[in-house]
Amino acid sequence: MNNMQPSAALILLIQLSLHTVDEGSAINPSCSCIRFSSLLEKPRGTVSSPDYPRPYPRPLCLLYTFIAQPHQIVELVFTDFNIYREHLDCTGGDYVKVYSEVVAGPGPPAVNDNSKYSRVLCGNRNDIPPAIYSHGSALILELSSGEKSSNATGFIGTFKFIDRSDFEMDGTRVPHSRCDFVFSSHSSKPREGKFYSPNYPSSYPEHSRCYYHFNARKHERVKLVFEESFLQKGDESCLNRADTIKVFDGKVASAPVIAILCNEVVGYEILSTGHDVLVEFIARSKVAGQGFKAKYQFQEDDDSVEGAITIDGTSIGPAVRAATSSCDQIFRSHKSNSGKLMSPLYPSPYPPNTHCHYNFVARGRQRVRLVFEDFSLQRITGNIIDCESMDSLDVFLNVDGRLEKMGSFCGGEVPKAIMSNGPKLAVEFRGAYSSRQSRGFKISYYFVEDYGITGGKQLMEFPCAFVYNSSVRARGVVVSPNHPGLYPRDTECNYFFHAKKGQKVHLHFTHFDVEGVHPCESVSASDYVEFSNEIKSTRTSRHCGQLKDLKIVSSKDFFRITFRSNDRLDGTGFKANYIFLKDSEMNIIKMAASACDWSQIFSLTIWLLILIRHLIF
Ligand SMILES: *[C@@H]1O[C@H](CO)[C@@H](O)[C@H](O)[C@H]1NC(C)=O
Ligand SMILES: *[C@@H]1O[C@H](CO)[C@@H](O)[C@H](O)[C@H]1NC(C)=O
Repeated sequence: MNNMQPSAALILLIQLSLHTVDEGSAINPSCSCIRFSSLLEKPRGTVSSPDYPRPYPRPLCLLYTFIAQPHQIVELVFTDFNIYREHLDCTGGDYVKVYSEVVAGPGPPAVNDNSKYSRVLCGNRNDIPPAIYSHGSALILELSSGEKSSNATGFIGTFKFIDRSDFEMDGTRVPHSRCDFVFSSHSSKPREGKFYSPNYPSSYPEHSRCYYHFNARKHERVKLVFEESFLQKGDESCLNRADTIKVFDGKVASAPVIAILCNEVVGYEILSTGHDVLVEFIARSKVAGQGFKAKYQFQEDDDSVEGAITIDGTSIGPAVRAATSSCDQIFRSHKSNSGKLMSPLYPSPYPPNTHCHYNFVARGRQRVRLVFEDFSLQRITGNIIDCESMDSLDVFLNVDGRLEKMGSFCGGEVPKAIMSNGPKLAVEFRGAYSSRQSRGFKISYYFVEDYGITGGKQLMEFPCAFVYNSSVRARGVVVSPNHPGLYPRDTECNYFFHAKKGQKVHLHFTHFDVEGVHPCESVSASDYVEFSNEIKSTRTSRHCGQLKDLKIVSSKDFFRITFRSNDRLDGTGFKANYIFLKDSEMNIIKMAASACDWSQIFSLTIWLLILIRHLIF
């Protein structure tokens, strides 16, 4: 980190002359500094590496210091970023270090070799966080390049000094706690507000554990929306994550868990069953993420409020609704947990120009499940293959906070069962043409907590987890959520197999259809099924795609299957036969079945096992 190329130094100086320049007060005597201060600058500006967009000079050490006013914090967004990366952890090559905890004392803030940096960045735009924030009113960036030549072009970005009060919470801090808050509904207070992870929008402190208590009044319930939540990168199972957000459907942490959020989540909505919700935020990882930004709302537990049908902006009562619209309906789970939805006049043809909206609103741990029983819409003959220009039924889900079309169904083929990714699902029926042959549709709807998974014992401490216990059932069937329908998006389900001592679980997948391409990672937007002999472990084998006759044997008396889907594309999931067997039993079966094809063993096994157990015990 010394002599700069003369040309580079010159360009740098020209650039620096626009700002306050300090020499040498920092990290390295040869380091140059550029200072941006909210007293001198406009509240926003542009910052870039020297020579951008041409390769930055080397070797180079440059400090960018941002000083906001005491009530402000610094926001930095890189619009382009390209710093030569030698190793994954940004050692060896060039890097940008972020010091977000520096304090502006009487003098300008400074860093030295011992200063703690909060992040080190290298690589390109996809490798770095969308935005960087200071904890306090100052932020320092250190750009360092080594001798090794590269064509990396550096960075350009914008900085802003923003008011800290934009991120204040409306709740009351619990006395003597580090970060616990209470949000109580009161007639004199606004019914909605925001809540954040500690230090948001800057990263949360390591080793945080915060509780957020939401207490609605009688006839109210709680709606939460996690607008943005960046904890850790990747698509790991939340079982393996040290940083998680858990939402409980009640006052205490023994209440059923509605959701566990980890990794990166955008626009996730939750509706409580009762008046209380507890949110637990735990951070135990080495590299803290940015945290979460969420909003809460105390909702009147009444049909007239949210999602009500309105005509010209005024909400209409049920009587008027029936008269003006034959088909717009809202289905809420507290009215009934299941029912039928039929097209107008079903099973007679629906009238032409029918246009209906159906909204489903579940609560707590429930998901909405639609099972199509009859489906016959007017078809247009010819070469049209999309549903756009025909009578159709469209299903919408809440994805990333927006209503997104999940599927469009037309013609006469009965669609596969569908499950929502959260508490809401909307259906739109456009029956423009109709004819004597168009019976319309008949759908059974259910508000389910068990994800359509039967056979195991569901656990309350996960949104979707089931135990298969050898002492309870020695064999059975295990399926993906909503099987044989399409599995829901944004869903993680865990299956824990507990064998008796000396037993192993044998699984034979007779159906396997999970959207993705090997190695089933987030880069390829893959859903996946993962196997492990530990409750928590990243040493797992992932599977996705369409697999035939997949067979798995546990290596000890515990086995876990994790199913995880993302927010796009759907498959029909899996179905597997399982059986708990001792090795000795397996050997007898193998010998007995040696004459047969391996694929027949599973059906044979059941009969043989009954026989063996009769003989041995
Ligand atoms: C930089 O780009 C030039 C021209 O494309 C190329 O010849 C050179 O090898 C590149 N250097 C490095 C280190 O990639
Ligand atoms: C399995 O079932 C037995 C008998 O009901 C019970 O004692 C045991 O605790 C169960 N194990 C698990 C892990 O649930």
